[in-house]
Amino acid sequence: MVRMDATPLPLPQKILDRDLKVRKRPVQEDRAFIPLPLEALLEGEPLTFPLYLKVTPGPGCGVTYTLSLEQGAELCRPWREKLQELGITRVYVPETFLPQVVAYLNNHLLVRAAEEEWSPQDFVLFREHLHFSLRLALQSPQLDQTAAPAKQALQLLITALKRDAVPWKLIWDLLYQDYTLYTHSVNVAVLGVAFLTFLRLPRQDCLTLGLAGLLHDVGLTRISPDILHKPEPLTPEEWELLRKHPCLGYRLLKSNASLPLGTVRLVLEHHELADGSGYPQGLPLQKQHPLSRYLSLLEAYDGMTLYRPYRPRLSPFTALNTLRERRGRHGSAYDPQVLKKFIELLALT
Ligand SMILES: [Fe+2]
Ligand SMILES: [Fe+2]
Repeated sequence: MVRMDATPLPLPQKILDRDLKVRKRPVQEDRAFIPLPLEALLEGEPLTFPLYLKVTPGPGCGVTYTLSLEQGAELCRPWREKLQELGITRVYVPETFLPQVVAYLNNHLLVRAAEEEWSPQDFVLFREHLHFSLRLALQSPQLDQTAAPAKQALQLLITALKRDAVPWKLIWDLLYQDYTLYTHSVNVAVLGVAFLTFLRLPRQDCLTLGLAGLLHDVGLTRISPDILHKPEPLTPEEWELLRKHPCLGYRLLKSNASLPLGTVRLVLEHHELADGSGYPQGLPLQKQHPLSRYLSLLEAYDGMTLYRPYRPRLSPFTALNTLRERRGRHGSAYDPQVLKKFIELLALT
């Protein structure tokens, strides 16, 4: 386990009473902590993990993390209000507590999901649950057990959507400003479930596509970060490697007994296009899995509307237009019928 800080632990009240620009010795790397939105935390409940705040000791000093609530402490309203007053929207949890974070969110989600209508806070709980259960699953060599909480969360969403408990606007409010693989995957999963529910497709299809949305880019975790985060244009050889990620994902998941077979095939086909000019197999539409056309469209849409460091995020309108005009070698890149239905769905919000 990572020892976070050798200095005495500050009491929560002390944090409330002083300037948050406290001085701390060690500078931790960002990846040692996971960010959690304040809304995902429930008042009056003991925390099963410690909470840290990100602080800057002074100009040019870099960022450090300071312990602000210990594991077992209860989150109280004044603490939350003080942070909101300071414009702090996220707290941080050591990465080593990831399983506890998933269990905490899971417990609360199960209680909240039974409510008649989901509130924005319920939806934040749901989104964070999906985000962290995916993160936990991708870190584990045993996807079988660790993918179970994500599957359960998707089932809850499908049930809630089918009984109209989730206002459509909440689905769109889900999209984050910052881009990570997890964000993208969660967005595609939720969009997929929402879209197929809107089209009144069977529950099993919703689950197959939702899980595929969550896992479609799992193959990227096996590609060098030097290629994934390269700021300059990729060389043809690097493109070649990058384009292997659907096959790598397929290989990672194909022996996973807990996933629907369709999900695994969708992971392989998520970059296939309607005119047969996609990759890795260049399959024409009629040879693709019937749900592949939805996944390829939604993942392209989400990729365009998310913020990237090298370009502004596109508005939904511009993204839809780009998708409509995108051509493969032999015709429209996306199924025009599916695109038309997707525009109808977006018009609801
Ligand atoms: Fe991909
Ligand atoms: Fe993707």
